Amino acid sequence: MPRARTAILISGRGSNMAALLAAAADPAYPAEIALVLANRADAAGLARAAAAGIPTAVVESRHFPGDRPGFEAAMETALARHGIRLIALAGFMRVLTAGFVGRWEGRLVNIHPSLLPAFPGLETHERALAAGVRLHGCTVHLVSAGVDEGPILAQAAVPVLPGDTPATLAARVLAEEHRLYPAALGWLAAGRVHVAAGRALVDGAAAPDGALRNPQP
Ligand code: GAR
Repeated sequence: MPRARTAILISGRGSNMAALLAAAADPAYPAEIALVLANRADAAGLARAAAAGIPTAVVESRHFPGDRPGFEAAMETALARHGIRLIALAGFMRVLTAGFVGRWEGRLVNIHPSLLPAFPGLETHERALAAGVRLHGCTVHLVSAGVDEGPILAQAAVPVLPGDTPATLAARVLAEEHRLYPAALGWLAAGRVHVAAGRALVDGAAAPDGALRNPQP
């Protein structure tokens, strides 16, 4: 099967992008990263992608004030030019229109730094600490029209520890993001994901055999 030509969309540092690039450096990985597209010219991830020899593009969202369809049309021109079949959002901080999401349905994934549907939106680590949850984590999901909504492909949970700050908790979650996202994108690119009744199933994926408890009884 040819590798799925995939674009990674970023707005900033691009550490998840780097994890996906590292996975896709293996020719056996089912997705080929054919484009890194940023909505800001100052996104630090662009230099990282270029250094890895990946084509990059910038479509500056600030040049399209109040015109999300125009911004997305410019992005789609770049995506078409590079023959893109899948899109992975990796710290892409723009909300996409229902039209764009509909055109890419089933081919558009996102990573979010919480165990959705808990804590959609921004400042997830601050809100998890304020809520006093003992388990937090990250979610890879197919994107549907609502913000941080759509069929869940995979989640990773981490403990919240006494004395955690938003920064220490974010770092623990981020390490799991970097493991989870390459796995989940690989399943999608390999055609192993099926959606039924709004829920995603991954063919042949193993479930863990135990519960996570925090604190330990
Ligand atoms: C990641 O933690 C990602 O989950 C989050 O932004 C960070 C980007 O870091 N995404 C969102 O909050 C999307 N709603 P990165 O640029 O180093 O990958």
